[in-house]
Amino acid sequence: MPQAVVIIGVQWGDEGKGKIVDYYTSAADIVARFQGGNNAGHTLVVEGKKTILHLIPSGILHPHAKCFIGSGVVVDPENFLEEVSILREAGIQDLENRIYLSDRCHLIVDYHKHLDAARENKKSGKLGTTKRGIGPAYEDRASRRGLRVADLFNEKVFEEKLKENLAEKNFLLKEYYGVSPVSMESFMTKYQGIAKQLKPFIRDVSAELFQSIEEGKKILYEGAQGVLLDVDYGTYPYVTSSQTLPSQAALGLGARVPKDTLFIGVIKAYSTRVGEGPFPTELTDAFGDELRESGSEYGATTGRPRRCGWLDLVAVKYALQVSGIKNLAITKADVLSGLFELKVCTAYEYQGNRLHTIPADSSILAKVTPIYETLPGWSEDLTAIRNINEIPKNLQNYLKFIEEFTGARINLISTGAGREAVIDIQKAF
Ligand code: GDP
Ligand code: IMO
Ligand code: MG
Repeated sequence: MPQAVVIIGVQWGDEGKGKIVDYYTSAADIVARFQGGNNAGHTLVVEGKKTILHLIPSGILHPHAKCFIGSGVVVDPENFLEEVSILREAGIQDLENRIYLSDRCHLIVDYHKHLDAARENKKSGKLGTTKRGIGPAYEDRASRRGLRVADLFNEKVFEEKLKENLAEKNFLLKEYYGVSPVSMESFMTKYQGIAKQLKPFIRDVSAELFQSIEEGKKILYEGAQGVLLDVDYGTYPYVTSSQTLPSQAALGLGARVPKDTLFIGVIKAYSTRVGEGPFPTELTDAFGDELRESGSEYGATTGRPRRCGWLDLVAVKYALQVSGIKNLAITKADVLSGLFELKVCTAYEYQGNRLHTIPADSSILAKVTPIYETLPGWSEDLTAIRNINEIPKNLQNYLKFIEEFTGARINLISTGAGREAVIDIQKAF
Protein backbone atom coordinates (compact mmCIF):
# COMPACT_ATOMS: atom_id res chain seq x y z
CA MET A 1 0.00 0.00 0.00
CA PRO A 2 1.36 3.48 -0.87
CA GLN A 3 2.25 5.99 1.83
CA ALA A 4 0.61 8.84 -0.06
CA VAL A 5 -2.02 9.54 -2.67
CA VAL A 6 -2.13 12.67 -4.82
CA ILE A 7 -5.58 13.53 -6.13
CA ILE A 8 -5.91 15.99 -8.99
CA GLY A 9 -8.62 16.92 -11.48
CA VAL A 10 -7.88 16.06 -15.09
CA GLN A 11 -10.55 18.13 -16.83
CA TRP A 12 -11.63 21.75 -16.22
CA GLY A 13 -12.21 21.36 -12.48
CA ASP A 14 -15.31 20.22 -10.56
CA GLU A 15 -14.65 16.57 -11.34
CA GLY A 16 -15.63 15.58 -7.80
CA LYS A 17 -12.17 15.80 -6.18
CA GLY A 18 -13.60 16.83 -2.81
CA LYS A 19 -15.82 13.77 -2.63
CA ILE A 20 -12.95 11.44 -3.51
CA VAL A 21 -10.60 13.11 -1.01
CA ASP A 22 -13.22 12.85 1.74
CA TYR A 23 -13.66 9.16 0.92
CA TYR A 24 -9.92 8.39 1.04
CA THR A 25 -9.39 10.41 4.23
CA SER A 26 -10.68 7.51 6.35
CA ALA A 27 -7.26 5.91 5.74
CA ALA A 28 -5.11 9.08 5.78
CA ASP A 29 -3.44 10.96 8.63
CA ILE A 30 -2.98 14.26 6.80
CA VAL A 31 -4.82 15.95 3.95
CA ALA A 32 -2.87 18.74 2.26
CA ARG A 33 -3.72 21.47 -0.25
CA PHE A 34 -0.80 22.69 -2.37
CA GLN A 35 -2.14 25.24 -4.89
CA GLY A 36 -5.08 27.43 -5.84
CA GLY A 37 -7.19 29.31 -3.34
CA ASN A 38 -10.83 29.89 -2.63
CA ASN A 39 -11.61 29.78 -6.33
CA ALA A 40 -12.03 26.06 -5.55
CA GLY A 41 -15.37 24.69 -4.43
CA HIS A 42 -15.16 21.13 -3.15
CA THR A 43 -18.44 19.50 -2.17
CA LEU A 44 -18.76 16.77 0.44
CA VAL A 45 -21.99 14.98 1.23
CA VAL A 46 -21.96 13.03 4.48
CA GLU A 47 -25.14 11.45 5.83
CA GLY A 48 -27.13 13.65 3.50
CA LYS A 49 -25.51 16.88 4.74
CA LYS A 50 -23.71 19.00 2.17
CA THR A 51 -20.50 20.89 3.04
CA ILE A 52 -18.72 23.08 0.48
CA LEU A 53 -15.07 23.83 1.18
CA HIS A 54 -13.05 26.45 -0.67
CA LEU A 55 -9.76 26.57 1.17
CA ILE A 56 -9.79 24.07 4.00
CA PRO A 57 -8.81 20.57 2.82
CA SER A 58 -11.59 18.05 2.23
CA GLY A 59 -10.44 15.79 5.06
CA ILE A 60 -11.75 18.10 7.78
CA LEU A 61 -14.97 16.16 8.38
CA HIS A 62 -12.94 13.18 9.63
CA PRO A 63 -12.01 14.06 13.23
CA HIS A 64 -8.73 12.09 13.13
CA ALA A 65 -7.28 13.94 10.12
CA LYS A 66 -4.95 16.94 10.16
CA CYS A 67 -5.41 19.44 7.33
CA PHE A 68 -2.40 21.31 5.91
CA ILE A 69 -2.47 24.39 3.69
CA GLY A 70 0.88 24.75 1.95
CA SER A 71 2.77 27.80 0.72
CA GLY A 72 1.58 27.23 -2.86
CA VAL A 73 -1.96 28.16 -1.82
CA VAL A 74 -3.06 31.80 -1.97
CA VAL A 75 -5.09 32.55 1.14
CA ASP A 76 -7.90 35.02 1.54
CA PRO A 77 -7.77 35.24 5.34
CA GLU A 78 -11.36 36.45 5.62
CA ASN A 79 -12.55 33.48 3.63
CA PHE A 80 -10.40 31.15 5.72
CA LEU A 81 -11.83 32.46 9.00
CA GLU A 82 -15.37 32.32 7.64
CA GLU A 83 -14.90 28.68 6.67
CA VAL A 84 -13.48 27.93 10.11
CA SER A 85 -16.50 29.50 11.76
CA ILE A 86 -18.96 27.63 9.52
CA LEU A 87 -17.24 24.35 10.40
CA ARG A 88 -17.23 25.23 14.10
CA GLU A 89 -20.95 26.00 13.98
CA ALA A 90 -21.48 22.63 12.30
CA GLY A 91 -19.90 21.00 15.37
CA ILE A 92 -16.43 20.27 13.95
CA GLN A 93 -14.06 20.62 16.88
CA ASP A 94 -10.45 21.24 17.73
CA LEU A 95 -9.86 23.17 14.51
CA GLU A 96 -6.83 25.10 15.85
CA ASN A 97 -5.05 21.80 16.39
CA ARG A 98 -6.18 20.25 13.14
CA ILE A 99 -5.67 22.98 10.53
CA TYR A 100 -2.06 23.97 9.81
CA LEU A 101 -1.67 27.11 7.71
CA SER A 102 1.75 27.85 6.25
CA ASP A 103 3.36 31.14 7.26
CA ARG A 104 4.70 31.35 3.70
CA CYS A 105 1.27 31.50 2.01
CA HIS A 106 0.59 34.60 -0.01
CA LEU A 107 -2.40 36.61 1.12
CA ILE A 108 -5.29 37.60 -1.08
CA VAL A 109 -6.28 41.06 0.12
CA ASP A 110 -8.97 43.53 -0.90
CA TYR A 111 -7.14 45.13 -3.82
CA HIS A 112 -6.60 41.71 -5.45
CA LYS A 113 -10.34 41.09 -5.43
CA HIS A 114 -11.08 44.61 -6.73
CA LEU A 115 -8.53 44.22 -9.53
CA ASP A 116 -9.85 40.78 -10.51
CA ALA A 117 -13.42 42.12 -10.64
CA ALA A 118 -12.41 45.31 -12.49
CA ARG A 119 -10.67 43.28 -15.20
CA GLU A 120 -13.61 40.92 -15.55
CA ASN A 121 -16.03 43.83 -15.77
CA LYS A 122 -14.12 45.36 -18.66
CA LYS A 123 -15.64 44.68 -22.06
CA SER A 124 -12.64 42.92 -23.56
CA GLY A 125 -10.36 40.18 -22.31
CA LYS A 126 -12.92 38.55 -20.01
CA LEU A 127 -11.78 35.13 -18.74
CA GLY A 128 -14.77 34.31 -16.58
CA THR A 129 -12.71 34.14 -13.37
CA THR A 130 -14.25 33.53 -9.97
CA LYS A 131 -13.37 37.17 -9.03
CA ARG A 132 -11.73 35.89 -5.85
CA GLY A 133 -8.48 37.78 -6.55
CA ILE A 134 -6.55 34.62 -7.40
CA GLY A 135 -4.77 35.94 -10.51
CA PRO A 136 -3.69 39.29 -8.99
CA ALA A 137 -2.38 37.51 -5.85
CA TYR A 138 -0.26 35.08 -7.88
CA GLU A 139 0.96 38.02 -9.98
CA ASP A 140 2.20 39.77 -6.84
CA ARG A 141 3.90 36.60 -5.70
CA ALA A 142 5.79 36.36 -8.99
CA SER A 143 6.64 40.07 -9.04
CA ARG A 144 7.76 39.90 -5.37
CA ARG A 145 5.27 42.43 -4.13
CA GLY A 146 3.11 39.93 -2.29
CA LEU A 147 2.07 40.10 1.35
CA ARG A 148 2.55 36.79 3.09
CA VAL A 149 1.01 35.30 6.22
CA ALA A 150 4.28 35.92 8.11
CA ASP A 151 4.08 39.64 7.25
CA LEU A 152 0.88 39.96 9.31
CA PHE A 153 3.07 39.65 12.41
CA ASN A 154 5.62 42.27 11.42
CA GLU A 155 3.74 45.54 11.48
CA LYS A 156 6.56 47.58 9.97
CA VAL A 157 7.10 45.27 7.00
CA PHE A 158 3.37 44.88 6.47
CA GLU A 159 2.82 48.64 6.46
CA GLU A 160 5.73 49.33 4.11
CA LYS A 161 4.70 46.66 1.63
CA LEU A 162 1.12 47.79 1.84
CA LYS A 163 1.99 51.41 1.12
CA GLU A 164 3.90 50.44 -2.02
CA ASN A 165 1.15 48.14 -3.17
CA LEU A 166 -1.63 50.59 -2.52
CA ALA A 167 0.13 53.34 -4.45
CA GLU A 168 0.37 51.10 -7.48
CA LYS A 169 -2.97 49.28 -7.17
CA ASN A 170 -4.97 52.40 -6.42
CA PHE A 171 -3.50 54.09 -9.47
CA LEU A 172 -4.62 51.16 -11.58
CA LEU A 173 -8.04 50.93 -9.94
CA LYS A 174 -8.74 54.65 -10.24
CA GLU A 175 -7.01 55.74 -13.39
CA TYR A 176 -7.14 52.63 -15.56
CA TYR A 177 -10.29 50.82 -14.45
CA GLY A 178 -12.23 53.86 -13.19
CA VAL A 179 -13.30 52.24 -9.91
CA SER A 180 -12.92 53.22 -6.24
CA PRO A 181 -9.48 52.98 -4.58
CA VAL A 182 -8.76 51.14 -1.31
CA SER A 183 -8.00 53.15 1.85
CA MET A 184 -4.84 52.53 3.88
CA GLU A 185 -6.32 53.26 7.33
CA SER A 186 -9.20 50.81 7.21
CA PHE A 187 -6.82 48.25 5.76
CA MET A 188 -4.32 48.32 8.65
CA THR A 189 -6.98 48.03 11.37
CA LYS A 190 -8.75 45.24 9.57
CA TYR A 191 -5.65 43.11 9.06
CA GLN A 192 -4.42 43.61 12.64
CA GLY A 193 -7.66 41.98 13.78
CA ILE A 194 -7.31 39.23 11.21
CA ALA A 195 -3.73 38.48 12.31
CA LYS A 196 -4.90 37.76 15.87
CA GLN A 197 -7.57 35.35 14.72
CA LEU A 198 -5.27 33.61 12.29
CA LYS A 199 -2.39 33.06 14.71
CA PRO A 200 -3.50 29.76 16.29
CA PHE A 201 -3.54 28.08 12.87
CA ILE A 202 -0.12 29.16 11.64
CA ARG A 203 2.64 26.56 11.43
CA ASP A 204 5.82 25.75 9.56
CA VAL A 205 3.94 23.39 7.22
CA SER A 206 7.04 22.32 5.33
CA ALA A 207 8.76 21.14 8.54
CA GLU A 208 5.60 19.48 9.87
CA LEU A 209 5.05 17.59 6.64
CA PHE A 210 8.70 16.57 6.35
CA GLN A 211 8.54 15.11 9.87
CA SER A 212 5.23 13.35 9.22
CA ILE A 213 6.56 11.72 6.06
CA GLU A 214 9.68 10.54 7.95
CA GLU A 215 7.41 9.02 10.59
CA GLY A 216 5.54 7.06 7.92
CA LYS A 217 2.28 8.99 8.25
CA LYS A 218 -0.22 8.57 5.40
CA ILE A 219 -0.61 11.71 3.32
CA LEU A 220 -3.43 12.63 0.98
CA TYR A 221 -2.69 15.54 -1.35
CA GLU A 222 -5.72 17.45 -2.61
CA GLY A 223 -5.48 19.28 -5.92
CA ALA A 224 -7.77 22.13 -6.86
CA GLN A 225 -9.00 23.05 -10.36
CA GLY A 226 -7.82 20.61 -13.05
CA VAL A 227 -5.06 19.98 -15.59
CA LEU A 228 -6.92 21.84 -18.34
CA LEU A 229 -6.93 24.92 -16.10
CA ASP A 230 -3.18 24.70 -15.39
CA VAL A 231 -1.45 28.01 -16.10
CA ASP A 232 1.06 26.37 -18.48
CA TYR A 233 -0.61 23.22 -19.77
CA GLY A 234 -4.26 24.25 -19.70
CA THR A 235 -6.25 26.03 -22.39
CA TYR A 236 -4.28 29.27 -21.93
CA PRO A 237 -5.29 32.07 -21.39
CA TYR A 238 -8.56 30.56 -20.19
CA VAL A 239 -6.91 28.99 -17.17
CA THR A 240 -6.30 29.70 -13.51
CA SER A 241 -3.04 31.23 -12.28
CA SER A 242 -1.50 28.24 -10.51
CA GLN A 243 0.09 24.94 -11.44
CA THR A 244 -2.45 22.18 -11.04
CA LEU A 245 -0.22 19.25 -12.00
CA PRO A 246 0.79 16.61 -9.43
CA SER A 247 4.41 17.79 -9.38
CA GLN A 248 3.10 20.92 -7.65
CA ALA A 249 2.24 18.79 -4.61
CA ALA A 250 5.89 18.81 -3.49
CA LEU A 251 6.58 22.43 -4.46
CA GLY A 252 3.43 23.84 -2.91
CA LEU A 253 4.06 22.21 0.44
CA GLY A 254 7.82 22.43 0.73
CA ALA A 255 8.43 18.71 1.22
CA ARG A 256 9.12 15.86 -1.18
CA VAL A 257 6.25 13.46 -1.78
CA PRO A 258 6.99 10.01 -0.32
CA LYS A 259 8.74 7.53 -2.61
CA ASP A 260 5.70 5.32 -2.58
CA THR A 261 3.00 7.66 -3.83
CA LEU A 262 -0.03 6.86 -5.95
CA PHE A 263 -1.23 9.56 -8.34
CA ILE A 264 -4.94 9.52 -9.09
CA GLY A 265 -6.70 11.72 -11.62
CA VAL A 266 -10.40 12.37 -11.11
CA ILE A 267 -12.59 12.50 -14.20
CA LYS A 268 -16.26 13.14 -14.54
CA ALA A 269 -18.08 10.70 -16.86
CA TYR A 270 -18.94 13.71 -19.06
CA SER A 271 -17.38 17.19 -19.34
CA THR A 272 -18.12 20.52 -17.69
CA ARG A 273 -16.49 23.91 -17.67
CA VAL A 274 -17.26 27.19 -15.84
CA GLY A 275 -16.14 30.51 -17.25
CA GLU A 276 -14.90 31.41 -20.71
CA GLY A 277 -12.68 29.38 -23.02
CA PRO A 278 -12.81 26.69 -25.69
CA PHE A 279 -14.84 23.56 -24.96
CA PRO A 280 -15.02 21.33 -28.05
CA THR A 281 -17.70 18.88 -26.82
CA GLU A 282 -19.98 21.52 -25.28
CA LEU A 283 -23.69 20.86 -25.76
CA THR A 284 -25.45 24.16 -26.22
CA ASP A 285 -28.79 22.48 -26.95
CA ALA A 286 -31.63 21.28 -24.74
CA PHE A 287 -29.71 18.11 -23.92
CA GLY A 288 -26.87 20.20 -22.48
CA ASP A 289 -29.45 21.90 -20.23
CA GLU A 290 -30.84 18.51 -19.22
CA LEU A 291 -27.38 17.29 -18.28
CA ARG A 292 -26.84 20.43 -16.17
CA GLU A 293 -30.06 19.77 -14.29
CA SER A 294 -29.59 16.04 -13.79
CA GLY A 295 -25.98 16.53 -12.70
CA SER A 296 -26.77 19.65 -10.59
CA GLU A 297 -24.02 21.39 -12.53
CA TYR A 298 -23.92 24.79 -10.87
CA GLY A 299 -20.65 26.25 -9.59
CA ALA A 300 -19.88 25.39 -5.94
CA THR A 301 -18.07 28.75 -5.58
CA THR A 302 -19.96 31.21 -7.74
CA GLY A 303 -23.25 29.42 -8.42
CA ARG A 304 -22.76 29.97 -12.16
CA PRO A 305 -24.35 27.38 -14.45
CA ARG A 306 -21.63 25.03 -15.65
CA ARG A 307 -21.31 24.45 -19.36
CA CYS A 308 -21.91 20.74 -20.06
CA GLY A 309 -20.84 18.36 -22.82
CA TRP A 310 -19.87 14.82 -23.75
CA LEU A 311 -16.73 13.20 -22.40
CA ASP A 312 -13.72 14.51 -24.30
CA LEU A 313 -11.13 11.75 -24.33
CA VAL A 314 -8.68 13.76 -26.43
CA ALA A 315 -8.57 16.31 -23.64
CA VAL A 316 -8.36 13.62 -20.94
CA LYS A 317 -5.57 11.76 -22.73
CA TYR A 318 -3.62 14.99 -23.14
CA ALA A 319 -4.13 15.82 -19.45
CA LEU A 320 -2.87 12.38 -18.45
CA GLN A 321 0.17 12.82 -20.68
CA VAL A 322 1.22 16.17 -19.20
CA SER A 323 0.51 15.08 -15.64
CA GLY A 324 1.94 11.55 -15.86
CA ILE A 325 -1.20 10.11 -14.28
CA LYS A 326 -1.96 6.41 -14.86
CA ASN A 327 -4.79 5.84 -12.41
CA LEU A 328 -8.28 7.29 -12.42
CA ALA A 329 -11.30 7.77 -10.23
CA ILE A 330 -14.46 8.37 -12.27
CA THR A 331 -17.46 10.24 -10.92
CA LYS A 332 -21.05 10.92 -11.95
CA ALA A 333 -21.62 7.93 -14.27
CA ASP A 334 -24.96 7.74 -12.38
CA VAL A 335 -25.96 11.05 -14.00
CA LEU A 336 -25.73 9.39 -17.42
CA SER A 337 -28.11 6.52 -16.47
CA GLY A 338 -31.18 6.46 -18.67
CA LEU A 339 -29.58 7.55 -21.93
CA PHE A 340 -30.11 5.28 -24.92
CA GLU A 341 -26.64 6.02 -26.21
CA LEU A 342 -23.62 8.12 -25.28
CA LYS A 343 -20.98 9.93 -27.25
CA VAL A 344 -17.29 10.21 -26.48
CA CYS A 345 -14.92 12.44 -28.38
CA THR A 346 -11.89 10.56 -29.74
CA ALA A 347 -10.37 13.14 -32.12
CA TYR A 348 -10.86 16.69 -33.38
CA GLU A 349 -11.14 17.87 -36.94
CA TYR A 350 -9.56 21.18 -37.91
CA GLN A 351 -9.38 22.49 -41.47
CA GLY A 352 -9.67 18.99 -42.92
CA ASN A 353 -7.03 17.48 -40.61
CA ARG A 354 -7.39 15.21 -37.61
CA LEU A 355 -5.98 16.43 -34.29
CA HIS A 356 -5.27 13.98 -31.48
CA THR A 357 -4.15 16.36 -28.77
CA ILE A 358 -4.87 19.82 -27.34
CA PRO A 359 -3.18 22.47 -29.47
CA ALA A 360 -1.22 25.23 -27.72
CA ASP A 361 -3.25 27.86 -29.57
CA SER A 362 -6.65 28.09 -27.87
CA SER A 363 -8.14 29.90 -30.84
CA ILE A 364 -7.60 26.69 -32.83
CA LEU A 365 -9.18 24.60 -30.08
CA ALA A 366 -12.19 26.92 -30.22
CA LYS A 367 -12.69 26.03 -33.89
CA VAL A 368 -12.23 22.25 -33.90
CA THR A 369 -15.10 19.87 -34.61
CA PRO A 370 -15.24 16.90 -32.25
CA ILE A 371 -15.25 13.43 -33.79
CA TYR A 372 -17.41 11.09 -31.74
CA GLU A 373 -17.76 7.38 -31.13
CA THR A 374 -21.22 6.32 -30.03
CA LEU A 375 -21.56 3.79 -27.25
CA PRO A 376 -24.73 2.12 -25.91
CA GLY A 377 -26.18 3.57 -22.71
CA TRP A 378 -27.56 1.94 -19.54
CA SER A 379 -30.70 2.60 -17.58
CA GLU A 380 -30.03 1.15 -14.12
CA ASP A 381 -29.77 3.33 -11.02
CA LEU A 382 -26.14 3.01 -9.91
CA THR A 383 -26.28 4.77 -6.56
CA ALA A 384 -26.58 1.67 -4.37
CA ILE A 385 -24.01 -0.46 -6.24
CA ARG A 386 -20.79 -1.20 -4.30
CA ASN A 387 -19.40 -4.06 -6.34
CA ILE A 388 -17.85 -3.78 -9.78
CA ASN A 389 -19.50 -7.03 -10.89
CA GLU A 390 -22.93 -5.50 -10.37
CA ILE A 391 -22.59 -2.53 -12.69
CA PRO A 392 -24.52 -2.65 -15.99
CA LYS A 393 -22.69 -4.26 -18.90
CA ASN A 394 -22.86 -1.13 -21.02
CA LEU A 395 -21.27 0.94 -18.25
CA GLN A 396 -18.54 -1.69 -18.07
CA ASN A 397 -18.02 -1.17 -21.80
CA TYR A 398 -17.94 2.61 -21.34
CA LEU A 399 -15.28 2.31 -18.64
CA LYS A 400 -13.30 -0.20 -20.68
CA PHE A 401 -13.39 2.17 -23.64
CA ILE A 402 -11.96 4.95 -21.44
CA GLU A 403 -9.23 2.68 -20.09
CA GLU A 404 -8.23 1.42 -23.52
CA PHE A 405 -8.26 4.85 -25.13
CA THR A 406 -6.27 6.57 -22.38
CA GLY A 407 -4.06 3.68 -21.26
CA ALA A 408 -4.98 4.53 -17.66
CA ARG A 409 -6.62 2.26 -15.14
CA ILE A 410 -9.83 3.06 -13.25
CA ASN A 411 -9.26 2.47 -9.51
CA LEU A 412 -12.53 3.83 -8.21
CA ILE A 413 -16.05 4.56 -9.45
CA SER A 414 -18.18 7.10 -7.63
CA THR A 415 -21.88 6.35 -8.04
CA GLY A 416 -23.44 9.28 -6.20
CA ALA A 417 -22.61 12.43 -4.26
CA GLY A 418 -22.62 10.72 -0.82
CA ARG A 419 -19.44 9.57 0.90
CA GLU A 420 -20.55 5.95 0.82
CA ALA A 421 -21.47 5.89 -2.90
CA VAL A 422 -18.24 4.33 -4.09
CA ILE A 423 -17.08 1.20 -5.89
CA ASP A 424 -13.51 0.88 -4.68
CA ILE A 425 -11.95 -1.40 -7.27
CA GLN A 426 -8.31 -1.05 -6.25
CA LYS A 427 -7.85 0.22 -2.70
CA ALA A 428 -5.52 3.25 -2.65
CA PHE A 429 -4.36 3.09 0.98
P1 GDP B 1 -14.62 19.36 -7.09
O1 GDP B 1 -14.42 20.82 -7.25
O2 GDP B 1 -13.79 18.57 -8.03
O3 GDP B 1 -14.48 18.88 -5.68
O4 GDP B 1 -16.14 19.09 -7.51
P2 GDP B 1 -17.43 19.97 -7.09
O5 GDP B 1 -17.75 19.68 -5.68
O6 GDP B 1 -17.27 21.37 -7.50
O7 GDP B 1 -18.51 19.36 -8.06
C1 GDP B 1 -18.83 18.02 -8.07
C2 GDP B 1 -20.33 17.86 -7.75
O8 GDP B 1 -20.73 16.53 -8.03
C3 GDP B 1 -20.63 18.06 -6.28
O9 GDP B 1 -21.94 18.60 -6.18
C4 GDP B 1 -20.60 16.66 -5.71
O10 GDP B 1 -21.42 16.51 -4.55
C5 GDP B 1 -21.16 15.86 -6.86
N1 GDP B 1 -20.66 14.49 -7.02
C6 GDP B 1 -19.41 14.00 -6.80
N2 GDP B 1 -19.34 12.71 -7.21
C7 GDP B 1 -20.56 12.39 -7.66
C8 GDP B 1 -21.11 11.20 -8.25
O11 GDP B 1 -20.45 10.19 -8.46
N3 GDP B 1 -22.43 11.27 -8.63
C9 GDP B 1 -23.19 12.37 -8.45
N4 GDP B 1 -24.45 12.33 -8.87
N5 GDP B 1 -22.70 13.50 -7.91
C10 GDP B 1 -21.41 13.51 -7.54
P1 IMO C 1 -12.38 23.31 -8.25
O1 IMO C 1 -11.21 23.07 -7.34
C1 IMO C 1 -13.90 24.95 -11.96
C2 IMO C 1 -12.03 28.60 -13.45
C3 IMO C 1 -12.86 29.86 -13.48
C4 IMO C 1 -12.28 30.54 -14.70
C5 IMO C 1 -10.80 30.21 -14.58
C6 IMO C 1 -9.95 31.29 -13.93
O2 IMO C 1 -13.67 23.45 -7.57
O3 IMO C 1 -12.38 22.29 -9.33
P2 IMO C 1 -9.69 32.10 -11.40
O4 IMO C 1 -10.71 32.64 -10.45
O5 IMO C 1 -9.03 30.85 -10.93
O6 IMO C 1 -8.70 33.13 -11.87
O7 IMO C 1 -10.55 31.72 -12.72
O8 IMO C 1 -10.72 29.02 -13.81
N1 IMO C 1 -11.94 27.92 -12.14
C7 IMO C 1 -12.57 26.78 -11.84
N2 IMO C 1 -13.45 26.07 -12.56
N3 IMO C 1 -13.52 24.53 -10.75
C8 IMO C 1 -12.61 25.22 -10.04
O9 IMO C 1 -12.07 24.76 -8.89
C9 IMO C 1 -12.12 26.44 -10.56
N4 IMO C 1 -11.25 27.37 -10.12
C10 IMO C 1 -11.13 28.28 -11.11
O10 IMO C 1 -14.22 29.57 -13.63
O11 IMO C 1 -12.77 29.95 -15.85
MG1 MG D 1 -15.49 22.55 -7.63
